[in-house]
Order: sequence, then C-alpha cells, then structure tokens
Amino acid sequence: MDSILVRGGGPLKGQIPIAGAKNACLTLMPATLLSEEPLTLTNAPRLSDIKTMTALLGSLGAEVTSLQDGKVLAMSSHNINNHTADYDIVRKMRASILVLGPMLARDGHAIVSLPGGCAIGARPVDLHLKALEALGAELDLKDGYVHAKAPKGLRGGTINFDFASVGATENALMAATLAKGTTVINNAAREPEIVDLAECLRKMGAQIEGEGTSTITIQGVDRLGGATHPVVTDRIELGTYMLAPAICGGQVELLGGRINLVQAFCEKLDAAGISVSESANGLTVKRNGGDIKAVDVTTEPFPGFPTDLQAQMMALLCTANGTSVLEEKIFENRFMHAPELIRMGANIDVQGGVATVKGVKRLKGAPVMATDLRASVSLILAGLAADGETKVSRVYHLDRGYEHVVAKLSAVGADIERVKDT
Ligand code: UD1
Repeated sequence: MDSILVRGGGPLKGQIPIAGAKNACLTLMPATLLSEEPLTLTNAPRLSDIKTMTALLGSLGAEVTSLQDGKVLAMSSHNINNHTADYDIVRKMRASILVLGPMLARDGHAIVSLPGGCAIGARPVDLHLKALEALGAELDLKDGYVHAKAPKGLRGGTINFDFASVGATENALMAATLAKGTTVINNAAREPEIVDLAECLRKMGAQIEGEGTSTITIQGVDRLGGATHPVVTDRIELGTYMLAPAICGGQVELLGGRINLVQAFCEKLDAAGISVSESANGLTVKRNGGDIKAVDVTTEPFPGFPTDLQAQMMALLCTANGTSVLEEKIFENRFMHAPELIRMGANIDVQGGVATVKGVKRLKGAPVMATDLRASVSLILAGLAADGETKVSRVYHLDRGYEHVVAKLSAVGADIERVKDT
C-alpha cells in the first residue's frame, strides 16, 4: 500500500490543470446503456472509480475503450447480455446504482445489488427506488438485490423528491428519457453534474427542460442515438486545489476553473481573506501573507456550500484567527478527518453534525490515516502548511477521486511524494 509524504512549506506559485468531474463522468458513463449507438466522453478523469464503472459496464456487456491515456472513453452498448450488477462491483462504489434506471428503461428489466453502507453514513437508495416506481417500475428486494421490472416499458409520471438527492435525480432523469409520455421531477437536485448529464442526453436525442432548476421536465422518446460529450470541470478538484495557496500562501491559477461552479465556496474564501479572480483560462487564487479569518460553513445541496469540500475547508480553518463552526447537513458521519487533524495539533470539537474549530497558530506534521476520499485530501492540504513531515496512509481513497495529485501539487512548488510502505 502507498502513502503520501508532505513536508510543510510554501508559498506556492504556478498553474494546476483541473480534470473532468469524477461525479459527472460516473453518471455519464451509465447513460451509454440507454442507446445502442456509441457514446464518447472526452475530458474524462483518470481515476480508480472510473475503472470500477468501466468494469461494471463491461460485466453487463457494454464495451468501454479507454483512449488517449484515459482522457477519452469510447463506449458502446449494442450488445448488453447481462442485466445483473453484481455485489462484488457495486459494493466498491455507490454510484454503481446509476446503471439501474438506464437498464430498466431500455430493456424493461434489471437486477442491481444494493450498495450497502459506506464510511460517511448509511446512504440508502430509497429515493432512487421511489422515483423508478413513480415511472411504473415493479420492484422487489431479495437477497440484497433490487429486482426491477417494467414489462411494458416505463411510463412518464410525477416524481416528488423529499430531498434533492443527486444520484436519485440522475437515475430518474436517465430512466425518464425512454419512458412513454411526460415526466416531471420536483425538488430535483441542481448540481452542475446534473446539467452536464442533461446536456449529454439531449445530444443523444432526449427531450429535457429545466435542468439546473428544481423542476425538470422530460418528454420520453422511443430511442436515443449516439453522441460525443466533454465532461464538465471537476468543481470539487477545483475547490480542493484552490485551498492549496489559501493554506500555504502564494498565487496559483486553476486552469479550466469557473466561479459559477464554486460560487458559495468562493464567498467563504473571500470572507476568510483569500482573493479569487476569474480570467479567460481559469481562476486565480492569491493569499498575501495575512491571517486567515474564521468563517462559519454549513453544507447544503447546490448552489450551497458542497459537502465534498467541507473536510478541505476545515483544513484551512484549523489555522484561522478565531473560531469557525462547520455544520454538516448532507451526511451524518462526515467528520472523520477531525481526529486526524487533531493529531496534527488542530483544536476541533465535534458534537453530532457540528464541528467547532478554534484556530491555532501552526499545525505540526504527524502520521495520519485517510478514512475517505475527501478526508484524505484534507490531510494532504493540512500537511502542506504544517511544520515538519506528514505521512498520509491508506491513499487508495485518494486514487478514487484525484488524478496525479503529487504531480499537480509538486508543479506549484509543494514538497510532496508518494512512497511505498515497507
Ligand atoms: C453525490 C456525489 C457525492 C456527494 C453527494 C452530495 C456522486 C457519484 N457522488 O452522492 O460525492 O457528496 O452527491 O453532494 O455524484 N439519500 C437518501 N436516500 C436516497 C439517496 C440519498 O436518504 O435514496 C441521502 C443520503 O444518505 C445522503 C443525502 O441523501 O445523506 C445526499 O445524498 P445524494 O445527494 O443522493 O448523494 P449521492 O448521489 O450519493
């Protein structure tokens, strides 16, 4: 197993290119199951989660060819010969549930393993299932699998989400493109990844209106065709690397970044005293040596502050001047990075879904352990400005969501390397 070694330093200077969004790619890939014609994604990120989705689609009979060192994924689902998504793959990645809606919509039947719990909370799929039932699916839960049927095809319907779930909106949106009649999704998630999915589906021939708002209307069509689509910029990778100069000082340009992807996050950076400006090539983040100001953060569905940036923001606030309160409203157990940051000298008190962070002058390097994807990168960020060396172990979490993290941070002057554990 590998670890990452980070030695504190700074300031950072230079450019970091931002990849295509993991979470967009993980929903665009299953969209291939909706059509017999090829779907090609460009600007795909090179990540282990993408390999897991490639394996899952392959197990169903889809062909996924990785071109240009993984930046292009050429997919074809003309020969789907298995409609069961097996537990062995699904348990590795919750996004696997996104094959359910497309398979059911196209062929009228699908069996998908329930994803089970994960480190950051229970994460049930009840909203996915209710949405498909509203489109006429007959569902049966047996032996840890969802058995879904729609012998006469799905039909349009009204879906009212109690909570604006990202994945459930994506599953419903994909399924509705091939349902007979009109589907209205109320309280739909508004994340940029959903807008990206709708744009891709529209290129394939789907009729969709309202993506990016809380109400999405889909007029079902008989069949979808092929398309080529660039994956939207990864706003979480963007926000993560914006925090590197914010924590270490310096000036870094994030190539491909746009403010509208990270508006709520930029407002908090501004309140903390970090300047962000947009140029033709991306976003430039600058910290001029002044103190970080404490800020309060509450995670919310888009356009609110993203839960996927909460751990990284906490790393910044550990050395702020004053006390910050971070409230996690999306996942019930998403402060596992806090005990690790405390090992590095942070002063954090967690009570349920609220973490109170009292800023300290400096963090100190320490051996720490990654517990999930975003927690792992928050520890790297913390290590970038800590005195001495930080060793982050269990970095397989990191490989799920960040490509070339060592190369990207080294290029702007960070002292970071990947080592094999002995
Ligand atoms: C997606 C992202 C993830 C991000 C999250 C919230 C992908 C692959 N992952 O996850 O990185 O952190 O959005 O922005 O895109 N819930 C239910 N029932 C359901 C579905 C969800 O109770 O059927 C709950 C979850 O347990 C969680 C909350 O709703 O507490 C948010 O989940 P959701 O928006 O569905 O997130 P994901 O799509 O899983």
